[in-house]
Amino acid sequence: MELENKVVIITGAGSGIGAATAVLLGAQGATIMVSDIDLKKAQKVVDSIKAKGGNALAIQANVTEFEEVESLISRTVKEQGKLDVMVNNAGIGGRHQKKTAEHTHDDWHNVIAVNQTGVFYCMKVALQQMMKQGHGNIINVASLAGLKPSGYNLSYSASKYAVVGMTKSAALEYGSKNIRINAVCPGYTDSALLDRLLSSRPDMGDTLKRLIPMDRFGEATEIAEAIAWLASDNSKYVTGQTITIDGGTSLQ
Ligand SMILES: NC(=O)c1ccc[n+]([C@@H]2O[C@H](COP(=O)([O-])OP(=O)(O)OC[C@H]3O[C@@H](n4cnc5c(N)ncnc54)[C@H](O)[C@@H]3O)[C@@H](O)[C@H]2O)c1
Repeated sequence: MELENKVVIITGAGSGIGAATAVLLGAQGATIMVSDIDLKKAQKVVDSIKAKGGNALAIQANVTEFEEVESLISRTVKEQGKLDVMVNNAGIGGRHQKKTAEHTHDDWHNVIAVNQTGVFYCMKVALQQMMKQGHGNIINVASLAGLKPSGYNLSYSASKYAVVGMTKSAALEYGSKNIRINAVCPGYTDSALLDRLLSSRPDMGDTLKRLIPMDRFGEATEIAEAIAWLASDNSKYVTGQTITIDGGTSLQ
């Protein structure tokens, strides 16, 4: 199997893209540490991986708390001996769709804490372990909103541009250390996060679909497929890249 013997941590893996990635990588033979701030949701994902004969463990961690990130990674290494792949997927959207002058302080601080600082914490601690073991692979879940402007969600856009920047900067530093760092940039993808955006305005679904040449939202499994490729040795000469999976939305 493609990911046999690989130990993978996925943050925010209790739902949506993270859950789909956990299930796919688990089916490809990896041992998955299914991490989420919500342990119950993580445990359900573990159950479905195990039901298909895979190997997985649920670990609660809030990525905004540095000590929790440290214990997530140290527990993984203690129990599995190594960390091959770190998928930094946990992310939230802002609660309000407002122009920049009305953007709330709460949205700013919450979104930056999870989407940007959380990714920094996870990269920092994962890289320390990967340097020790002499190899590693980090995959950050950024967004189309980190590649092109999207109005009415300043903190989300800022955080995702930051994730793309952190991915490329760190890839420069660690290329010679046998550690690859890439990002995926999903467009609008069916998930709880998208549901919250769609419920902000009755016409939001149609408005967004008009932006998508393929005329539909993405599925979480379609993002998971790109993450699986980056996690595998099939992409072993790829680092510092963003892979856009958006049904063509970035074309316009
Ligand atoms: N759905 C989309 O349209 C879309 C598009 C582009 C990028 N993304 C990105 O994909 C990633 C996954 O989003 P999704 O759409 O699957 O959303 P989702 O809401 O379905 O899943 C996010 C998961 O992250 C967890 N989480 C939230 N805060 C956390 C924290 N502080 N620590 C640990 N876990 C936390 C949640 O409990 C949830 O299980 C996010 O980074 C998001 O920004 C999503």
